[in-house]
Amino acid sequence: MDKKRNIIIDTDTASDDAVAIIMALRDPSVNVLGITCVAGNLYVDQCVRNALISIDYAGTYAPPVYRGMEKPMIREKMVTAHATHGQDGLGDVGYPDPKGKPQPEHAVDAMARMVTEYEGDDLEIVTLGPLSNVAMAILKAPEAFKKVKMITMMGSAGLGPGNCTPVAEFNIWADAEAAQIVMQSGVPFTVVGWDACLGKAILTVEEIDALMADNPSELVKFCIECNRCLRNLNVKRFGSALIDFADPVAMAVAIHPECVAKMIDAYCFTEYKSESTYGQVVIDYNGVAGKPFNGRVCTELDADEFKRYLYSLIKG
Ligand code: RIB
Ligand code: CA
Repeated sequence: MDKKRNIIIDTDTASDDAVAIIMALRDPSVNVLGITCVAGNLYVDQCVRNALISIDYAGTYAPPVYRGMEKPMIREKMVTAHATHGQDGLGDVGYPDPKGKPQPEHAVDAMARMVTEYEGDDLEIVTLGPLSNVAMAILKAPEAFKKVKMITMMGSAGLGPGNCTPVAEFNIWADAEAAQIVMQSGVPFTVVGWDACLGKAILTVEEIDALMADNPSELVKFCIECNRCLRNLNVKRFGSALIDFADPVAMAVAIHPECVAKMIDAYCFTEYKSESTYGQVVIDYNGVAGKPFNGRVCTELDADEFKRYLYSLIKG
């Protein structure tokens, strides 16, 4: 049996994060060492509750959950996305309280500890929200982080337009200073931009109806119904009740690289000084800046493989 991949999931657990967490917990090749929660889509306690609920619905094992940063590192105005995911972040369906409880250890301390404990053991971190926890942990344990195999982040507009400003995507825009610390830390990273999560990666109404048609399991119903607020918003945004699954795409890129169609190397940095372009991730893949490449960017997904993989995990 191949060795399982040890990953830490860092999340601002709303409805698309929940599906990504479930994917990781149901992939037998992955061992989720811990789930660290960060404020972003929601307030951090809501993220903790939703991560614990996601563990219950995954129905496999219960990794420790840690409560992390309540606010961005420097940015004064905290932004949330209740309008996108619902007041509870899970479509305001009213899911029952989770079985589990968070650990007493702060997420930043837990992440720094796990990175140190698993030094050189191919530890990977998958981030689904703002990078406040990861940046703080890097500042706390910079040498240990140099041994982290990869940080795969859902973040940036990629090579396309932003979803919060013309140039900024939410996870980066929520704490650009944190993103810049991560990108300049020397830790290898892979960026899954907003652009890679659109197009054919989106679940269409027909695909959603097909998933829900043949006597869906409680898990399939959860994955779709907790995204009902996102679907309502998408009727306004895209004219259809589709689901853009940004975090599941990033999780698939991290743990099922067969779904990557194109990956480029680049020098990336995050703009945090300018008001108008705050949160923009500049991706220099032509070496124009003359800086060594510090990351990779997934610019194209094999959407068919992504969906096949996603369905195999939630329908299986
Ligand atoms: O821009 C999309 C990202 O912002 C996703 O991670 C979603 O959960 C929100 O956090
Ligand atoms: Ca997220």
